[in-house]
Amino acid sequence: MISIKGLTKTYPSGRGKMTVLDEINLEVQKGEFISIMGKSGSGKTTLLNLIGLLDNFDSGSYKLSGVEMKSVDQRGLARTRNRDIGFVYQNFNLLANFSALDNVMLPQLFGGVPAQRARKKAQEFLELVGLGDKLKNRPTQLSGGEQQRVAIARALINEPELLLLDEPTGTLDSKTGAEILELVKTLWVKNKMTILVITHDREIAGEAQKTLHIKDGKIMEGSAGL
Ligand SMILES: Nc1ncnc2c1ncn2[C@@H]1O[C@H](COP(=O)(O)OP(=O)(O)OP(=O)(O)O)[C@@H](O)[C@H]1O
Ligand SMILES: [Mg+2]
Repeated sequence: MISIKGLTKTYPSGRGKMTVLDEINLEVQKGEFISIMGKSGSGKTTLLNLIGLLDNFDSGSYKLSGVEMKSVDQRGLARTRNRDIGFVYQNFNLLANFSALDNVMLPQLFGGVPAQRARKKAQEFLELVGLGDKLKNRPTQLSGGEQQRVAIARALINEPELLLLDEPTGTLDSKTGAEILELVKTLWVKNKMTILVITHDREIAGEAQKTLHIKDGKIMEGSAGL
């Protein structure tokens, strides 16, 4: 599903540049559930943003479902993002002035689904994450765990093949975090999508089939290098 070869990502830094990902290689099979760990600032979000087509890389190759992403234009990237990828951001990124229902139905509207159908589906997905009674609440009227569940419903509504989660439990207490993870696992078993989840939590990482560690711009599998 994901094939990354010799990928390098730098950011401008002072007069020079800082290499965050240094010729990394990564193969992810369809249906795999992978956790990503690494110190703060090691490049986890940078990697997930690249995989989620939210940012560009300097050099190397990134193929998603066999297609080289470097050669896809902005429109094509936007379409793939909307249709095939669900993203749960480190800070939720819910729209503050919209209700839970509106937030969840937006990706459907962007995909051209008529409003009535989109609304019905958004309601189903909010029910799925246990928020059927909070459809009209705005993000400020929801707890952190509830906001995270709205973000997950939004990421899932277009039924993506690839679900990317950036520390979905990072700001939650351990019980709520465990519930969110349980939800993600249930969805994984049910829908068989490919999941990449960034976490600082070893227990959560241990739930995945495989753990990747990012350190010094490189990716290592398993517990090597810790
Ligand atoms: N847009 C940017 N411009 C310049 N530098 C950036 C940019 N985004 C991230 N960085 C730098 O790149 C490095 C990796 O950042 P990244 O957000 O990927 O880390 P992370 O592993 O997700 O950390 P955390 O666990 O704190 O979320 C950091 O040193 C950060 O300062
Ligand atoms: Mg991060």
